[in-house]
Amino acid sequence: ITVLAAAAAGNEVTSNVTLDVNDIPQRYDEAQLWRIYNISEGMQQKVPVGEVLENKFGGNIWKENSKFLDISISKDHLKGARSFLSAHRLDAEVLSDNIQSMIDEEMMEGISGSTAADGMRTKKATRSNMHWKDYHDLETIYGFMREIRSKFPNIVRLYTIGQTAEGRDLKVLRISENPRENKKVWIDGGIHAREWISPATVTFILYQLMANWENQPAHIRGLTWYIMPVMNPDGYEYSRTTNRLWRKNRSASRRAQCNGVDLNRNFDIGWNGYGSSTNPCSDTYRGSSPASEKETKAVAEFLAKRKYNLEAYLTYHSYGQMIVYPWAYKAVKVKDSAVLQRVASLAVDRIAQKTGSTYRAAVTHEVLGIAGGGSDDWSRAALGVKYVYTVELRDRGAYGFVLPPRYIKDTALEGWTVAETVAQAIKTSS
Ligand code: ARG
Ligand code: ZN
Repeated sequence: ITVLAAAAAGNEVTSNVTLDVNDIPQRYDEAQLWRIYNISEGMQQKVPVGEVLENKFGGNIWKENSKFLDISISKDHLKGARSFLSAHRLDAEVLSDNIQSMIDEEMMEGISGSTAADGMRTKKATRSNMHWKDYHDLETIYGFMREIRSKFPNIVRLYTIGQTAEGRDLKVLRISENPRENKKVWIDGGIHAREWISPATVTFILYQLMANWENQPAHIRGLTWYIMPVMNPDGYEYSRTTNRLWRKNRSASRRAQCNGVDLNRNFDIGWNGYGSSTNPCSDTYRGSSPASEKETKAVAEFLAKRKYNLEAYLTYHSYGQMIVYPWAYKAVKVKDSAVLQRVASLAVDRIAQKTGSTYRAAVTHEVLGIAGGGSDDWSRAALGVKYVYTVELRDRGAYGFVLPPRYIKDTALEGWTVAETVAQAIKTSS
């Protein structure tokens, strides 16, 4: 688009340059978030409700499972979408009647929260600007990782495992007292850009580990931890600067409006199957081939080289409050699913005790439907990792991806509880 349109959109125009449509901040004024039940009834009439709402009514799917569909509808399409639903005798519960005001409140709370006088507790452990009263940009997160490395030079290593399409570094920390012999745990966050609670939780796990490393129990100190808080840095920054609800990475597509690949549909397992899209404009676009994306390739290569002793693969997403395990790409359970269910249930119980939140432990395809190309399935199929979990953090739809900063600490504690429980399970199973 031209500078004039950019000015109209409220962008500062300094010189006579052409601005990219992708740089215009996306607003969601009076857009609503709907939860639609009984979509399977619509399916029987051969109407893929989510697809129609996306393609004809500017909808954006937030979450879809066997019970309901959460979808945002822009202001201009509310009327049409409502009549579409009633024509198919479907009911929508309005979870939010103004998504933009949710986004604005999330931001305001962060601003006022970070000027508060507490937070000294976090200062003691690190000199960085890190805290868990608000979400942070990539540079702050990377600064925190460097900080940890310089505080513990003997046991911490910082890797740059690749770059993104936009040239950002992909960074992983390794914490280990004995890299040759320890069993290994991998933890990642931020595969999906808009799930901000995920990088916040993974950095908190890092903090929990290191703030008290000397006093950690042997089953934690005796592991090698690989931690990647942001697997999708381009998408994450884009969701902070331009479109709060962006999900994919930012790799270029032929159509400028349709950039990005869903990294959790891009791994080489059931890639060509259900639950992903071949359309670059879709939010679940699987990419042109397995591991077509730099992020996917970097992680897959890094892990493949280190699969010896790799016992756990934990990946943090939001939302839904669930701990799920393979398979996702087919409606089959892994042969040791009883073990995975037991450990996940234990984490669920501990979370309930600690914060009072209700999580659910289950096999992925049963609660989230079948979807190929996921990092979780890949780690099991390609590397043989035993404890593979995708953790869907808070909430259950009240705020969805736009979780207010006041919930970060307790949610992150729930994420930490899962990691602790898995570490303990590794110890007892050896
Ligand atoms: N919300 C996540 C996603 O859609 C769930 C991941 C579960 N695992 C999977 N392989 N689909 O990516
Ligand atoms: Zn996700």
